Amino acid sequence: MTTPDDARSENAATRAKAALKRDPWDLPDVSGLVVGVLGGTGDQGRGLAYRLARAGQKVIIGSRAAERARTAAGELGLGVEGAENAECARRSDVVIVAVPWEGHGLTLTALREELAGKLVIDCVNPLGFDRKGAFALKPEEGSAAEQAAALLPDSRVTAAFHHLSAVLLQDPAVERIDTDVMVLGEARADTDLVQALAARIPGMRGVFAGRLRNAHQVESLVANLISVNRRYKAHAGLRLTDV
Ligand SMILES: NC(=O)c1ccc[n+]([C@@H]2O[C@H](COP(=O)([O-])OP(=O)(O)OC[C@H]3O[C@@H](n4cnc5c(N)ncnc54)[C@H](OP(=O)(O)O)[C@@H]3O)[C@@H](O)[C@H]2O)c1
Repeated sequence: MTTPDDARSENAATRAKAALKRDPWDLPDVSGLVVGVLGGTGDQGRGLAYRLARAGQKVIIGSRAAERARTAAGELGLGVEGAENAECARRSDVVIVAVPWEGHGLTLTALREELAGKLVIDCVNPLGFDRKGAFALKPEEGSAAEQAAALLPDSRVTAAFHHLSAVLLQDPAVERIDTDVMVLGEARADTDLVQALAARIPGMRGVFAGRLRNAHQVESLVANLISVNRRYKAHAGLRLTDV
């Protein structure tokens, strides 16, 4: 027989459970974080740096050569600074990896110390190209993001920003980038932070899309987007429906 006391404690337990269930769109304030972009002199890195700085974020562009980084930063304005990759990593809270797949492993291996304790966002798409177009490469670790996690045991590695058009990101006439960003990672606090960063850019939404073991599909999908862009002369992005 259920007593009034039993019912009361059951209600309290239900309320406590509901309080624990967080709203997935309740994201942290990331406006005070410094964002570094390794390979920030390239199209993707420069585009992300521009969009984040335009949204008010403090951004440091990284390069293998400090001078190239400073030149790129000067061209962007908006308070963006340039530094050699190691200094960029050291001075940033969040570090976006935007180097080509070919330089991914060596770049991260060299920066293990500077990236320790940092939130790393990998946006690298391991792709090959032949006369049939783009195709996905399969890294030994499973994906570029998993390679990053293996090489950076003391960092919090996430993956995001794979499906953005660098052309749209860099075009100052484009006010909004209407797209979803699939965010992958192992810890909710980290993926929430990356989602919040994506949401700083008008039109953009970060959506949690699983653990790093599922990063390969996300990275590979870019080969399909390149095919779409070639056929339709577009800068296609992604929208996830019903979320
Ligand atoms: N382009 C896009 O639309 C797009 C979209 C989504 C994701 N991505 C991903 O973002 C990454 C960068 O793309 P991107 O088009 O910007 O590439 P990128 O212009 O070829 O390279 C970016 C920068 O990386 C540095 N770099 C070049 N080779 C390197 C190496 N071997 N080791 C270390 N650093 C090297 C260069 O900067 P410094 O010479 O100044 O060091 C270069 O400016 C790629 O992994 C790509 O898959 C690109």
